[in-house]
Formats: sequence, C-alpha cells, structure tokens
Amino acid sequence: MSRKLYIETVGCQMNMLDSELVVASLRKEGYQLVGAPREADTILFNTCSVRQHAEDKIYSALGRLKHAKTRHPDKIIGVLGCMAQKDQRLIFERAPFVDLVVGPGQLHQIPELLRQIAAGGGRQLEVSLDRTAGSRQEVEQSFESYDPLRDEQMRPTPYQAFVRIMIGCDKFCTYCIVPAVRGPEQSRPPEQIEAEVRKLATEGCREITLLGQTVNSYRHTAGGRATRLADLLYLLHDISGIDRIKFVTNFPKDMTDDLLHAVRDLPKCSHYLHVPAQSGSNEVLRRMKRGYRAEEYREMLARIRQTIPAAAVTSDFIVGFCGETEDDFQATAALVRESRFKNSFIFKYSPRPSTKADSLFADDVPEDVKRRRNNELLAIQNAISEEDNQAFLGRRVEVLVEGPSKSSRKQAADGDVLQLTGRTNCDRIVVFEGNRRLIGQLVPLLVYDANAFTLFGSVITQHVGPEVYELALAPDRF
Ligand code: SAH
Ligand code: SF4
Ligand code: F3S
Repeated sequence: MSRKLYIETVGCQMNMLDSELVVASLRKEGYQLVGAPREADTILFNTCSVRQHAEDKIYSALGRLKHAKTRHPDKIIGVLGCMAQKDQRLIFERAPFVDLVVGPGQLHQIPELLRQIAAGGGRQLEVSLDRTAGSRQEVEQSFESYDPLRDEQMRPTPYQAFVRIMIGCDKFCTYCIVPAVRGPEQSRPPEQIEAEVRKLATEGCREITLLGQTVNSYRHTAGGRATRLADLLYLLHDISGIDRIKFVTNFPKDMTDDLLHAVRDLPKCSHYLHVPAQSGSNEVLRRMKRGYRAEEYREMLARIRQTIPAAAVTSDFIVGFCGETEDDFQATAALVRESRFKNSFIFKYSPRPSTKADSLFADDVPEDVKRRRNNELLAIQNAISEEDNQAFLGRRVEVLVEGPSKSSRKQAADGDVLQLTGRTNCDRIVVFEGNRRLIGQLVPLLVYDANAFTLFGSVITQHVGPEVYELALAPDRF
C-alpha cells in the first residue's frame, strides 16, 4: 500500500539535510510526498530547539493535529530531531496523540519504527544518551551520523547538495542547546565524504556545501595522520563535475591560516565565510564561554580580509544575553559597524533549559530592550549590506542558477522565460530574467540594481558591448 507522507522542517541546514534523507528513505519504502498534513497519513515534524520560538511553533502545529488524529486514528504523527532528543517523553505528555519520537542520532530507524506502529506496536521512542549518561565512547555511539547513500531522484535540486562532514559539538557555549541535542563532536572519515561527493558529481551536482556545527574544527585521525578541513578541501577540489564548494558554520578560534590559504588557492572554493561573532563585548563573550575576546575576532577578520580580500563574511549575533548592558550592546554595534559583514543573523537571547547560562545567569534583559537592540543592530547591518551591494552595480558576476525566484511573476505570461535566482561565488543572491534551461548552469550576469538583500542582473550575451550594458541598466525591461 502506498502511504502519503507530509514532513515539516524547521532549524538549520543539518535539519534540512536530515529531512531530505528521511524522505528519501521513506520513498524507497513506497511513501509518496504530499504538500499538506490533511492529505497525509504519516505526518512528521523535524524540529529545532535552539530558541523557545522554534519549539513553540512545533507544539502549536502539533496542537492543530489533535482533532485530525481523533477523526483518523490511523494517521501516524512523528516528532524528529533536536526537540525530540531534548523533550523525549515530555512530547507524549504534551501531545498524547503523537506516535513517534526520534532523536537526530536514530533517524535511520524511522522506516522500521513506522512499520511497528502501523502493525499495532504502539508508541515508539528512540533517542540518544544524555551527554553525562555514559562514557564518551558510549555517548558517541548513541549518536549515529545519518548518511545513507544519496538517491539522485530525491534531492530537492539536482545541482546542489549539503554534505555532512561532522556531527555534534563540543564547544558548549553557555547559551546553546546544540551540544546536548546533537551530541559529541565526531568527524566523518574523509574517504566516506569523498565517495559521497563523487557520487553526487556523477549525478550532476555542481555545488556542495559541507556541514558541521563548527565545520572548521573538522579533524579525522586515522593511522596516526590527521585530516583537517583544509586537507579535505584539497581532496574534494579534485573531483571533476563539482564547480563550487562552500562550508558552514565556522568557529572563530579555528579559522587557521591553512584553511584561509586553501580557500584562496582553490578556485572552486566560494569566497564566503560564515563566522559568527555572537557579541562584541568581552564581558558577554566570557559569560557566553566563546573562548575568544573581541580583539581576537577582529584579528581573525583582518587575516581573512588580508588573505581573501573579496571574501564575503557573515555573522550571527545574540542580543539581550544575560547581564548585557547598554555599553555591551554598543560594543556589539561597533563591531557590526566596522566589520562590514555581508549580512548578520540577529537573535534575541532565549534561555534554554539545562544549559550553563540558564543555571548560572538570570535572563535579566527585558523583552522590549531585546527587541530594540535587535532592530537597532539589524538597521546598522542592513545599511552596510545595501551599501556594499551597491558596489556591484555595473559589475559582472557569475551565478549558479538555483531556480525560479520566489515571485516568478513572468512565468505564466512568457512560458519558458521567467524570473530566476542564482548565487554568486560570494553567496550573494541575484535575481534575473532568463530561460528555465539556465537552471543548474553557471551564468554570467551584469548587475543593474541592488538592495540590502538582493542584486538584480541580466544575462550577458557572448559579446558584451555598451549596448548590452545599457539594456541591462534599463529597469523597465523587468
Ligand atoms: N554552530 C553554529 C550555529 C549554532 S545555532 C555556531 O556555532 O555558530 C545558530 C545560532 O543561533 C547561533 O550562532 C546563535 O547566534 C543562535 N543561538 C544559539 N543559541 C541561542 C539561544 N539560546 N538564544 C538565542 N540565540 C541562540
Ligand atoms: Fe552552539 Fe557554540 Fe556549538 Fe555553535 S559552537 S553549536 S553556538 S555550542
Ligand atoms: Fe536547531 Fe538542532 Fe540545528 S537545535 S539549529 S536544528 S542542530
């Protein structure tokens, strides 16, 4: 019997990859993906616990399914991922109609667990050990990297793919739930990663994004020899068919010169580095246990700029962390002003149970102050993003075309010509008009407009003369 699967995913790229792999494994079992919960007989949520808001979203989505489950008791409802690992049985208490709870370390068991539920085996719960519930080795073993062989037909776009190079995190920043829910840091063997990328390349994949919570801490030791991220980049760079290599997320202290040199010297490496600073105040950084001072972050940024002058650097910030004063916040604002990040993700501090910050410090910055600081920082960053994007006006960029743009308004009218989006080598989004045949290709564009978030371009035909340039600048063509 064919079963209909609906899956909703929140959280980071790790979760997006996990969902893709879970969907692939279930399609192999005959499941068919549908677009709405009411059409599905199996409903899965792949969840995130990084902030309270992400959890609230899932609990209210679950709440909305209560009646559906009463009416159709055969519907199977499952909660996967980080919140499954964090809340475990609590999920059954808060949402008694949930059938399945599976942590990020047990995703490979999902087909079997669903079979058991369908056969009347009752509720199923599979999670990893808590970080203090056993020896390091035992806890590591309870978090299994989920990397089944990819299926060409089942990737969301055939030209791009996430590739996990490590799981877990050992940094234990005091505000962060990730080390608890994703387990100990473990790097995958380079041969496995290489084999996966080779397979992706033969399937037509042109861009890979290597994933790790602290991707530049990657270290795999075998036979007394350590492979670091820089070595891995050299290894993967040789694979023909792959044109672009990106990696996220970097930890500031592990941004070695070796790695920067590899990015500079390997033409396929994107000149794009996501290196979250979190705060510009030393006092706050110390309470966050980030392991660096603001001046060390600045020094690292200077090394990046010196080695790869065109690099686009992006960052994350938390505002309103425990005890953050106005002066602390101004120190963060100063860092954002001077660093000229391509963009910054800004979050209001959200206390997470069982983290150090939650047990040691009071969440004492009022919500309205958090909100104001968030908006203020965002305004500073957006002004910089817009200014730096303006510098692209009239410039030629090369994009990997990802697909139709969100508001692909020309689609209906013009058939094959539609609004497309692509990304530059420095990860900037460019919207342009073109034939859908361009999807998946590297295409040269001329930029004629820009705002804080997007560049607008037009396809450069083979002979670029001044006429083409003028045409590109005429916005009424769009
Ligand atoms: N491993 C990555 C990403 C971690 S989660 C890293 O080290 O940067 C993504 C972002 O969420 C973090 O960079 C941080 O800015 C934010 N974040 C994490 N915990 C948070 C919390 N408790 N409250 C608010 N934001 C948080
Ligand atoms: Fe969380 Fe820090 Fe690890 Fe990033 S490095 S996942 S912020 S503990
Ligand atoms: Fe969220 Fe888990 Fe990613 S907590 S940010 S989905 S690792």
